[in-house]
Amino acid sequence: MAFVTCIAPVNIAVIKYWGKRNEELILPLNDSISCTLSTEQMCARTTVVASTRYNENKFWLNGKEENSNSPRLINCIKDIKEKAEKVESEASKLNVHICSENNFPTAAGLASSAAGYAALIAGLASLYGVKGDISAIARKGSGSACRSVLGGWVRWHKGELADGSDSIATEIAPASHWPEMRILILVVNDARKKHSSTSGMKQSVKTSAFLKYRVEKIVPERTDQMVKAIKTKDFETFAKLTMQDSNQFHSTCLDTYPPIHYMNDTSHAICDLVHAYNNIKGCNKVAYTFDAGPNACLYMLEQDVPEFFTLIMNVFPSDLDSVEYVKGMPLKVSVLSEQL
Ligand code: ADP
Ligand code: DP6
Ligand code: CO
Repeated sequence: MAFVTCIAPVNIAVIKYWGKRNEELILPLNDSISCTLSTEQMCARTTVVASTRYNENKFWLNGKEENSNSPRLINCIKDIKEKAEKVESEASKLNVHICSENNFPTAAGLASSAAGYAALIAGLASLYGVKGDISAIARKGSGSACRSVLGGWVRWHKGELADGSDSIATEIAPASHWPEMRILILVVNDARKKHSSTSGMKQSVKTSAFLKYRVEKIVPERTDQMVKAIKTKDFETFAKLTMQDSNQFHSTCLDTYPPIHYMNDTSHAICDLVHAYNNIKGCNKVAYTFDAGPNACLYMLEQDVPEFFTLIMNVFPSDLDSVEYVKGMPLKVSVLSEQL
């Protein structure tokens, strides 16, 4: 028997991935950019055990057994095993039991699929002795997972090749580059979303003309501007682009037919508060972004946290389920323990 436990943090996109050009290989329509959080708070913790006694693969998520025959899980295990056979790993012949827990809400728009698949692929790679880039395999579990494999500021390149081998994540800058960056997560509702990211974006690709416009006319230039803002630590521009991209992603969801609403009244009130605050300050001090869910991720610099945090607690005393204060500091996916 061999086992390994890995943890992987979530990543919060500032240029959103929304739409695939290839469903099976999980190839996106556009590049995306995110910051990987520290593993101190929000992360997936996954243990993978391989044994001669297992005659099938099994998977438990948050204490409940899940379908281990999902095409994504099967694809990921198959890809890792293929690589493992090349390094003649003995363990690669064995079936696995996978047990994962998220210490934050699952399927609520806080990137659980990203942390979950990054931890799983890191665990399998470690167990089977696979080295080198694993972001392309994590991508086949969930697109956003390829970005959680790396720490700091990460870009997922959509790639050009039909087999997806160049659709990988690369580092724009390590977190140490912008050590003052902080992220406040406002959990508006921790329930599972009605439309998974997978089904939501599929419907947008099918029905939204605005998505096509976004992908072709907006994201390429915005991505370049975002890379520059991160590299030069230009918070003003970073914040504007982040908020514009979040708003455009949610507009695309509204342009989808039937429309998809991920944000709720509290989410919109948070947007209004951020703009009012930035207005009073005369510059952008806080940037909101919302993934496929109602929960807010707020980027700000450390010096501005105390005042804004106090404001949030006064304005929303009872509307929030919880508040997480997370450093935008990176930690790569890490192996906690192993016995190989
Ligand atoms: P989120 O916004 O949280 O990423 P998604 O709709 O993208 O929501 O994905 C949720 C799905 O991701 C879950 O239903 C489950 O299939 C998968 N997932 C979540 N957490 C994990 C995990 N720790 N390990 C493996 N898969 C996970
Ligand atoms: C809104 O990566 O969860 O969070 O590839 O189908 O698993 P699948 O979708 P997923 O989509 C994430 C969408 C997003 C934006 C982002 O993280 O870039
Ligand atoms: Co997801």
